Amino acid sequence: MAKPFLETDGPHHVAIIMDGNGRWATQRARPRLFGHHAGARRVREIVEACPENGVKYLTIFAFSTENWKRTQVEVAGLMSLFRRYIMKEMQAFVKENVRVRFIGDRPKLDAKLRGLMDEAEAMTAHCTGTNLTIALNYGGRDEVSRATQRLAQDVAAGRLRPEDVNEETLPRYLDTHVLPDPDLVIRTSGEARISNFLLWQSAYAEYEFIDTLWPDFSADEFAKLCAKYGLRDRRYGAVKA
Ligand code: IPE
Ligand code: IPE
Ligand code: MG
Repeated sequence: MAKPFLETDGPHHVAIIMDGNGRWATQRARPRLFGHHAGARRVREIVEACPENGVKYLTIFAFSTENWKRTQVEVAGLMSLFRRYIMKEMQAFVKENVRVRFIGDRPKLDAKLRGLMDEAEAMTAHCTGTNLTIALNYGGRDEVSRATQRLAQDVAAGRLRPEDVNEETLPRYLDTHVLPDPDLVIRTSGEARISNFLLWQSAYAEYEFIDTLWPDFSADEFAKLCAKYGLRDRRYGAVKA
């Protein structure tokens, strides 16, 4: 059954760069894909931990526009994992009242995967619990470029005046147009970089770079990071009253 949302001082929207699957597998002398499978299994626990931490939106980075640079074996394995993951998890998400969305450049993904993504979005469109957004073939620069292209088309067609391009209108063209900006961005695996994730949207996000490798990340650690966020003072450029 879907759990009720608790009112907390925690983040409303958490975005996670799920990093470290490869190293986790290498530490166990296993192929990198073994790590990706272990990583995929962690997702459900974190999604289920959202309501009790007051997290209404969870956005996870699954595959970047730069990840095509990996070996053909790893890329093909990941694509097959995504297909299987969607097929396997969807019923559970419907039961948990989780609304699933995808962001990223879809036309470059194979037709079967795209079909499953559309199906998952349609199947959960009525769900009113946690909003799970999966970034698949997502890159912040790519997203802003695609958005700008559509914006330019609207300007050329006379649907938008150049003087009306601003911080309110531009984000309507982003893949995330229905989502609030992330409050907290977590990156696992000890790397302190954002690797092209949610560039526009994270302008005022708080960041947590933690050493845990993604397959070891737990609901407990997630809860601690959410609670820690509640103690932070977000000033947005102003001076505290
Ligand atoms: C993150 O884990 C998952 C994807 C990028 C698909 P990595 O595969 O980047 O794991 P490391 O960073 O090599 O350990
Ligand atoms: C970022 O991790 C992308 C995902 C987690 C899907 P990477 O492992 O691809 O990032 P870099 O290469 O360390 O910057
Ligand atoms: Mg990595």
